[in-house]
Amino acid sequence: MVLKDISFVESLPKKCSIVVGIYSDGSLSPSAKKVDEALGNAIGSGVEKLAFTGKPLNTRSFLLSSENYGQVVLIGLGDIGKEFSSYELEKLGATIYTEAARLDFTVVVVVNESDIKVAPNQGCASFQGRCEAYIAFGALLKSWHFDKYKSKKDEKIKLSNLSVLSKNTSAAKQCFEKLENLASGIFLTRHVVSEPSNVIYPESLARVAEEELVSLGVEVEILQIEKMRELEMNSLLAVAQGSANEPRLAILQWKGGKNEEAPIAFIGKGVTFDSGGISIKPGDNMHEMRYDMAGAGTVLGLLKAVAKNNLPINVVGVMALVENMPSGAAQRPGDIVKSMSGQTIEVLNTDAEGRMVLADALWYTQNRFNPKIMIDLATLTGAIVVALGHEFAGLFSNCNELAEQIVKSAEETGEKVWRLPMSEHFDEGINSDVADMQNIGKPNIRGGSITAAQFLKRFVNGKRWAHLDIAGVEIASDEKLFICSRGATGFGVHLLYDFLRRTSADECKNC
Ligand code: BES
Ligand code: MN
Ligand code: ZN
Repeated sequence: MVLKDISFVESLPKKCSIVVGIYSDGSLSPSAKKVDEALGNAIGSGVEKLAFTGKPLNTRSFLLSSENYGQVVLIGLGDIGKEFSSYELEKLGATIYTEAARLDFTVVVVVNESDIKVAPNQGCASFQGRCEAYIAFGALLKSWHFDKYKSKKDEKIKLSNLSVLSKNTSAAKQCFEKLENLASGIFLTRHVVSEPSNVIYPESLARVAEEELVSLGVEVEILQIEKMRELEMNSLLAVAQGSANEPRLAILQWKGGKNEEAPIAFIGKGVTFDSGGISIKPGDNMHEMRYDMAGAGTVLGLLKAVAKNNLPINVVGVMALVENMPSGAAQRPGDIVKSMSGQTIEVLNTDAEGRMVLADALWYTQNRFNPKIMIDLATLTGAIVVALGHEFAGLFSNCNELAEQIVKSAEETGEKVWRLPMSEHFDEGINSDVADMQNIGKPNIRGGSITAAQFLKRFVNGKRWAHLDIAGVEIASDEKLFICSRGATGFGVHLLYDFLRRTSADECKNC
């Protein structure tokens, strides 16, 4: 479910509830003052009675006695003159949505650029309407719920129409249209990540890619198992061999840039269910491994956003789709496989499958597309959750400049990353006695997320590359950390969209 009706209006409609901004000293924002004059100071006296202070994102609401108005929702804007980043505006919108969701009147947000100073954003030519558009975007992102399998929908959610008051409704609308397209990518990611593994498995996820992207002008190619055998993707195939569901490799190409321009490639781990294989996982939280395709889901949503907004660049997406199951046909601990790169891997733990899948997907991508940058996303290690918890994704890279660009986008979008080191020490830890490498670190080597990144690095063939370990951020257990409700976050779509938008900022005058 998602809030469908969002609009920008120049004046208040006949009957509505309103959201007004209050600064931390208790004063009304300029727009709030204007409305308050028309209401004979009902808001000002309400604020006083409630002793409301407008600490950032503080909220209260009360009923107006006027028959034209329902509720007044007060929202804290913090100190006068404080600059809001895009992310802070989205947070504001999300908080407003949470307050407004149970109101059945039309809700009008009376907070706009007269009240808030918007921080500059690289590559964005125009400020006009951005404040209102980002508030609406935050509300939209927050409103998404996965309720497909609920026979009875949540009756507490009544809001169907949210408007934002704006002096420049056409600029706000223009900016919001781009954000709405981005949101549709984020929602697609959330949707496929939320779906259970009996619905989303390699074949069906590849089909979703075709259904969603082909009509938008993305070229979609699905490699089947025979082709993968021909290409000698034995590392990926070894993971897949225990499952009744055959693997797929979905290759997505967006050709928005010049013909000769090398693409930027995104590679996603798409383990549609990770039982651990023969090195089977304990039962307690095994169901959560239906989310182990979040990397591939993010690549899918990202390509949708890129295509819908017609970004003037070339982008490749590769979704490596397999199911990791134990069976008579499954790979065994101790097996040795020869990856597509020719490097051999000793499989010491079949639960370290993500890196085996990515090994061939990364090699294939650099070999076929010669991309200028490769970025992979994977729910790769439990260790990253130990290290960083649920707020930050782990970032690894062989290029400082690339890492810095990703960090910048993380700051802008609020999809946070924290860079972790890579080093030879960990590299030695994966050298095997009997093969070129082993798929888990030696017992004295800790730092399991770094070991895994070091493993992946062996398959990028020296290309500029970054790896995002998103285990821990793909699902929100605490909704305050992300602009979503509980469940799939869609983490990475906004982050990497912003990264791409910056890359193409010269050409793109209106983000
Ligand atoms: N998919 C898991 C990682 C994971 C764990 C994601 C928890 C989300 C939440 C991955 O395939 C895995 O099993 N990794 C192992 C690696 C180990 C065997 C070296 C792990 O982290 O335990
Ligand atoms: Mn695993
Ligand atoms: Zn996994």
